[in-house]
Amino acid sequence: MEDVLILGIESSCDETACSVVRNGRELLSDVIASQADFHEQYGGVVPELASRMHVDSIYPTIKKALSDANVSLKDIDAIAVTYGPGLVGALLVGLSAAKGLSAASGIPLVGVNHLKGHIAANYLCFPELEPPFLCLCVSGGNTMIVKVSDYTDMEVLGRTRDDAAGEAIDKIARVVGLGYPGGPKMDKAGQGGDINAYTFPHAHMKDTLDFSFSGLKTAALNMINIDRQKGNSIDLADFAASYQHSIANTLLTNTIKASQMTGITKICLAGGVSANSFLRKVFDEEAGKRGLTLYYPDLRLCTDNGAMIASAGYFEYINGTRHGLDLNAKPSLEF
Ligand code: KG4
Repeated sequence: MEDVLILGIESSCDETACSVVRNGRELLSDVIASQADFHEQYGGVVPELASRMHVDSIYPTIKKALSDANVSLKDIDAIAVTYGPGLVGALLVGLSAAKGLSAASGIPLVGVNHLKGHIAANYLCFPELEPPFLCLCVSGGNTMIVKVSDYTDMEVLGRTRDDAAGEAIDKIARVVGLGYPGGPKMDKAGQGGDINAYTFPHAHMKDTLDFSFSGLKTAALNMINIDRQKGNSIDLADFAASYQHSIANTLLTNTIKASQMTGITKICLAGGVSANSFLRKVFDEEAGKRGLTLYYPDLRLCTDNGAMIASAGYFEYINGTRHGLDLNAKPSLEF
């Protein structure tokens, strides 16, 4: 089979990202213009400002991705673009650029679900990885266990009923004064901390693989406030370590349950929170004990990037998926 080159475009939140990937697995370029430093002053992403910054960055990012890969637009077989879920104004920038390029060049357009992109990041890091496997998808807005039966055939087995794991970490990071982006700062703050210093409740729901993190978050808020009222302050390293370890354990428990239910022993992690060192550690330890094969992407490919969209787009493209210019941004796109 001839090589297939996909240009992947991602703009669902605060990264304008573009990449060229060969045959769904081989990264030829990976350009990311991150706005994180800019949004830090506001304590979170300001949607309108994010959209405007995407407008400024999108064209140079695409241009650099093509030149870094040493290809031109005419070499590209399909343009894959995130069309949801995400911030509507942000999504529209990447999508409009992709549609414009497709209309002008005749190159097919393939819309990609952002979360399926996160799962595909594993294909870029592990050339031997093939479905079926289970994927714990943990990002800022989503937490779900997905059964990946084939490259384009996936089913959600369990999801959060309230906060996403990333949201639960980000919100507490803000309360303890770590600011934005909270996830990586909490991870750093917890290094060397005692994971048993603070005890948090685990929401174990019967007969489901769903998660709930709102009780855990409230318990953490109460601990912080009670300490403040007493004129004390929490030990940040111990608190951050215990909190993240607790979230990691909850994620692990349901993933193990899903593995036992399905008989699938190949487990992938995906999404921004899969960069978390506490999460990786509990999964590494348990995989060793239970004989599970564990995969998680390189740190750079855990958070939003264009390469994962190009990879997911490749598998959609060879499966025959094509979108028309009427493809619209879907901020709440279902999995
Ligand atoms: O996947 P992602 O880049 O964007 C979404 O699609 O949501 O994930 C962003 C999330 C944020 O909640 C961020 O705080 C979290 O990933 N994150 C981390 C770490 N790095 C990023 N959370 C915990 N530990 C990290 N090291």
